[in-house]
Amino acid sequence: METLRVELGARAYDIVIGEGLLAQAGRHLADVGGSGKVVVITDENVGRLHLGALEAALRDAGFQSAALQLPAGEATKSWPHFSRTVDWLLAQKVERGDLVVALGGGVIGDLVGFAAAVLRRGVRYVQIPTSLLAQVDSSVGGKTAINSEHGKNLIGAFHQPSLVLADITALGTLSARDFLAGYGEVMKYGLLGDADFFGWLEENAPDLAAGNVEKRIYAVKRSCEMKAAIVARDETEQGERALLNLGHTFCHALEAATGYSDRLLHGEGVAVGCALAFEVSARIGLCSQEDPSRVHAHLAQMGLKRDLRDIPGDLPGADRLIELMGQDKKVVKGTLNFIMARGIGEAFVTSDVDLGIVKAVLQESAG
Ligand code: GLY
Repeated sequence: METLRVELGARAYDIVIGEGLLAQAGRHLADVGGSGKVVVITDENVGRLHLGALEAALRDAGFQSAALQLPAGEATKSWPHFSRTVDWLLAQKVERGDLVVALGGGVIGDLVGFAAAVLRRGVRYVQIPTSLLAQVDSSVGGKTAINSEHGKNLIGAFHQPSLVLADITALGTLSARDFLAGYGEVMKYGLLGDADFFGWLEENAPDLAAGNVEKRIYAVKRSCEMKAAIVARDETEQGERALLNLGHTFCHALEAATGYSDRLLHGEGVAVGCALAFEVSARIGLCSQEDPSRVHAHLAQMGLKRDLRDIPGDLPGADRLIELMGQDKKVVKGTLNFIMARGIGEAFVTSDVDLGIVKAVLQESAG
């Protein structure tokens, strides 16, 4: 078991990573001061797989618990399900001393975190992420949100959890596609700030995908370590935290273009976005062509999407995709900011990117 600390003063918390943590959840919740009531929100798929084990662990530790199961899928991150969740929490008489648990992937974590942020002006919550994407990214750092018809994650708040329990055993229930999509976010950490970690992934990622538990623990730990350090320095994304959005400006445009459907999962979009960001970086002379070639080769080795032509169905043209990028939250005073790289592990934020080059790279990637 590995424990990391997100150093945020009065809002500091632990990320615990290991096998079989669901069964030990009662002890960990007691450690963060949970005493009486724990309410769990999950989705129907995760509920079927993991809710029974969590409820048994809570019962064994003497907690009273209640659970709400929402439909699985991105559509749940919406006002109707949000308002149903908040009303349910109020009906459960959740108070500031109680703990709300988000059991699931990024959708549940983001929605429950936002509900906890606004309920009685803020109640404590614990993230128990069950997808790789949630374990290495969305459960850590306190970004909570629901989607609007104007775009993804546009309504939300920063609200840090009191604890993150990343049970590596839960990753065993993911489909190969969901695991690999989460892997897009793991790879992102190497690309943005740790060339050695990217090198380790080039060697070891096939074992991760094949189920090697020790390597999975190491990859989740290294990703969370990097995220925790960045969040501790820049909690509300005034600067450095934006690096965590490597690949995301492209990804958000592609997700919008594919209607947030399963034509493109978020982590797959991040993988394609990272490949595009490195290609643009090389074209504008920031890094050598060897870097995007390495990214591309690694994605191919893992069987991940890496080009626009790998996304099934029609996509809009490059001009429209660039327009969709303009909806991104990283637009400041009308200027589109990109995360570019001076090499593997050396990402930085810039608005100084020739959109003509972006357009050419998108067109080539589309084939
Ligand atoms: N997922 C990016 C961040 O938490 O800042």
